Amino acid sequence: MTQQLDSDGRLLHLLTLEGLPKETLCRLLDRSGQIRDAALGRTQKRNSLLGITVCTLFFEPSTRTRSSFQIAAQRLGADVVNFDASTSSARKGETALDTLKNLEAMGVRGFIVRHPEDGAAEMLAGNAGEGTTVINAGDGRSAHPTQGLLDAMTLRQAKGADFSKLKVLIVGDVKHSRVARSDLHALRTLGTGEIRVCGPEALLPEPSTLAGCITGDDFDAMLRGVDAVMMLRLQRERMEEGLVASIDDYRRDYGLNAARLRLAAADAVVLHPGPINRGVEITDQVADGPQSLVLRQVSNGVAVRMAVLESLLA
Ligand code: NCD
Repeated sequence: MTQQLDSDGRLLHLLTLEGLPKETLCRLLDRSGQIRDAALGRTQKRNSLLGITVCTLFFEPSTRTRSSFQIAAQRLGADVVNFDASTSSARKGETALDTLKNLEAMGVRGFIVRHPEDGAAEMLAGNAGEGTTVINAGDGRSAHPTQGLLDAMTLRQAKGADFSKLKVLIVGDVKHSRVARSDLHALRTLGTGEIRVCGPEALLPEPSTLAGCITGDDFDAMLRGVDAVMMLRLQRERMEEGLVASIDDYRRDYGLNAARLRLAAADAVVLHPGPINRGVEITDQVADGPQSLVLRQVSNGVAVRMAVLESLLA
């Protein structure tokens, strides 16, 4: 695997949260907290990335991740190029690596990569030139490290820094979710007291992903007493036919509604990475209700991405 840390423990790329030391993770979370006002545009633009050009290299659709990286880079003073596979020479068959090499030849220093294939960001990092930095913005089912960080930041704000007291439940299509994988890495590294993972058997991942977790397919039972519920989108684009019997069954068994949420702790919080299938994995009432941190996650995403860009490129 391409090294994302140098021998002094400095981050060269951000490809995964797996194996990232707790100090590095906490340093990024602390910095995200400090920078939050700037991330929300409440203070003047910074200039720590002045003169640096970064590119969002996206081979899959995105709303939140791409725009928040773009805003984060701009609020640090960087110039940003947006590459969109659907309107580029990728349509003519140009590879991701050739695309990166060409943009690198124009002086782009940082690449924020989203790609449908597992390992794509790591492959690009391994082939990038000296001084080029790659940030994984979601590769296949593998990893989405900045989502894992922003989810951890959001939980930390809501519940405090001591994760050992927390019971956290991840629900839904865990099998196809890079968000769940990165969340699990972050939750373990931060020493979460109890991690529960729930979904229909066909949507639970390989056992190695679930190491140390309590798993089950009974949503109501798994909800009891949890401090946080992390909902996931049904990733129908990554799914073989027939994995889910029907959307109605899924909604009945795994949809989070207000009545179900009462099974969790009274002050439980609800997270969802977006995009939401409203009325499928979560009802409007819960998604827009007082326990939902969905838009807080989005705001925190800008801060986390500023902290990551600054740490890698400043
Ligand atoms: C997620 C993704 O693309 O991995 N979205 C996001 O980045 N906020 C989750 C999803 O698509 O379901």
